[in-house]
Amino acid sequence: MSRKLLVTNALPYANGDIHLGHLVGYIQADIWVRYQRMRGNQVHYVCADDTHGTPVMLRAEKEGLTPEQLIARVHGEHLRDFTAFGVAFDNYHSTHTSENRFYAEDIYGKLKAGGMIETRAIEQYYDPVKEMFLPDRFIKGECPKCGAPDQYGDNCEACGAAYAPTELKNPYSAVSGAKPVLKTSEHYFFRLSDERAVAFLREWTRGTNAAGQRRLQAEAANKMKEWLGDEGENKLSDWDISRDAPYFGFEIPGAPGKYFYVWLDAPIGYLASFRNLAGKLGDIALEDYTDADRAEAAGTEMVHFIGKDILYFHALFWPAMLKFAGYRTPSQLCVNGFLTVDGAKMSKSRGTFITAHSYITQKLNPEWLRYYFAGKSNGTMEDVDLNLDDMIAKVNSDLVGKYVNIASRCAGFIARRFDGKLAASDTVATMEFEAAHRAGLVAQAYEERDYGRALREIMHLADTANQYVNENKPWELAKQEGQEVRLHQVCSTALTMFRDLTLYLKPVLPALAVEVERFLAIEPMAWPPHWAALPAGHEIRPYQHLMTRIERKQIDALLEANRESLAPAAPTKPGGDAREGEAASSQQRHAEKQQHAAQAAETASPQISIDDFGKVDLRIARIVDARHVEGADKLIRLSLDIGETDDSGAPRTRQVFAGIKSAYDPANLVGRLTVMVANLAPRKMKFGMSEGMVLAASDTDGRTPGLFILSPDAGAQPGMRVK
Ligand code: 2FM
Ligand code: ZN
Repeated sequence: MSRKLLVTNALPYANGDIHLGHLVGYIQADIWVRYQRMRGNQVHYVCADDTHGTPVMLRAEKEGLTPEQLIARVHGEHLRDFTAFGVAFDNYHSTHTSENRFYAEDIYGKLKAGGMIETRAIEQYYDPVKEMFLPDRFIKGECPKCGAPDQYGDNCEACGAAYAPTELKNPYSAVSGAKPVLKTSEHYFFRLSDERAVAFLREWTRGTNAAGQRRLQAEAANKMKEWLGDEGENKLSDWDISRDAPYFGFEIPGAPGKYFYVWLDAPIGYLASFRNLAGKLGDIALEDYTDADRAEAAGTEMVHFIGKDILYFHALFWPAMLKFAGYRTPSQLCVNGFLTVDGAKMSKSRGTFITAHSYITQKLNPEWLRYYFAGKSNGTMEDVDLNLDDMIAKVNSDLVGKYVNIASRCAGFIARRFDGKLAASDTVATMEFEAAHRAGLVAQAYEERDYGRALREIMHLADTANQYVNENKPWELAKQEGQEVRLHQVCSTALTMFRDLTLYLKPVLPALAVEVERFLAIEPMAWPPHWAALPAGHEIRPYQHLMTRIERKQIDALLEANRESLAPAAPTKPGGDAREGEAASSQQRHAEKQQHAAQAAETASPQISIDDFGKVDLRIARIVDARHVEGADKLIRLSLDIGETDDSGAPRTRQVFAGIKSAYDPANLVGRLTVMVANLAPRKMKFGMSEGMVLAASDTDGRTPGLFILSPDAGAQPGMRVK
């Protein structure tokens, strides 16, 4: 009987670009969906943008947009990126929609009626200037443990300590720069600590899906044990699901000024996207997938693909919310690890924080990445390393060298010598090849999301096919008298082998598979494979190049396009980057802490107004003289012309001591234009008066050593104002 699956990917936050870290989980899900469909299973594959919360609200404000305008733009960008990588959702919706409001209100209403919601007053940091409560990631200050400045309100990036925002020394709001004050407000809580919830979650953890596989991977099940504690223990705390205005989200019914916390309505977005799809298609029995009793009777499954940092939300809050609102609960969680690039956290300064869009605009083939990520996926929560040289080697040797090569070495002869028509296959070779197929193992590996194992099987089979071509050498047969028939047979046989390999690779390389189906003039291939050889007389189309090799210079150009020399190191979680922090329970903090928030990096310095900026008088300066300073390790004495004159009208220069000796030889600086701060209060230094400051860039994560003074474009003149 065919399975009925609702498959989802984590909803990306509508406050950031899709990057390669995200794509790990999306590609894994898409491969699984394609495989299930090839098997004849019914799959609805949905996703949406996760649109609510403080970061979106503030970012929109910063860009001079309404939140609605911002999320509409980002929605288009996200969908564009997924589509480019062959991630083919049936529906890509949004959480800021009527369907999501409907489910959020319905679920909340049912939880409330069932006694699972309660209110409590909590004290939190409040920004008196911006007049809003501050999520942890929007409060900064000195680490209470090591004293490092400018640390977030939840943990210290210098020493790794975790703490509550109220423990920070000299806290300030990352939004306005103001000193936050403590303020009390009423919050709504979902009673996760209710013993019914604990009992349900213990039971749910042990479940299996319709194929008899465990609902949770081993590592996830272990985490659950840790979170739930031993039988009889109750380690769960209630979950704060409300936020105070101003907030971009849905107002809680009956609670003016209180909004559903973004993490409440985010997973509900799965259902909302599906409901929207059902509305479009008209023939989906929606409740068979959403209602607890009907789902059980209909045997539908709901499978969530997520990153490991959001396991907590999906394995505790989400199933419990659904359960106590009478909804169906998730059948399975497929959790993936983080992405590293060349063994390290993705970094903007090294150019390894690679956006999906840059990969496409640099004209790299998305199926290279799909293939490489598939090869690195083994169905566990382990991190995935994108080793760029290894990717080049794998794609070039496996896909181009082994797989495509079979077709490219045989197809030309069929076109040129045999009018594009095939001969009957070499039965012995075909039988031997079929005997080498281990379709059952490939299928099982796909089912278990151990795509690396599937690809090893497939490449092993490709070796067998290549061996056949190498032993029969069509290029030599083509030169020999009287070998026409054999040449025809060998090439036809090899193309049947090529077809079989394509079928196996189809979930990973969908675009290539379509091209191959076109080239071989065959129907779309499905599972289980039925292996009749391509018949004698079958006409194929002219061969067009199917895949090119990757060159290292293409990868270098990609890194260059993503390099931002001034940006701080960015987080690397696949599956999202821009969230707000918590302030309520330690458990929530624990969950949030697993998420390194990129948006916080964006707002790393307190916002300033245009008037604040206007106070800095930046001028173009010509370096008229530059000298070493006796006794100073770091300083160069600069004389700068910014077009000033003294009382007599004679040109006057400013003396500035700049700490750039490690990077510049004074002789090379003379004559250059740069940018200086002209209204910095003069400072008396050991070596004399410093009358300003020149601007230089340097890396904040220390990975790209050096200092880089700024230069204006040609045409700028000393004294021009920079603004
Ligand atoms: O981690 C993130 O990026 C979240 N936006 C994921 C939400 S998944 C689901 F709950 F919607
Ligand atoms: Zn610290």
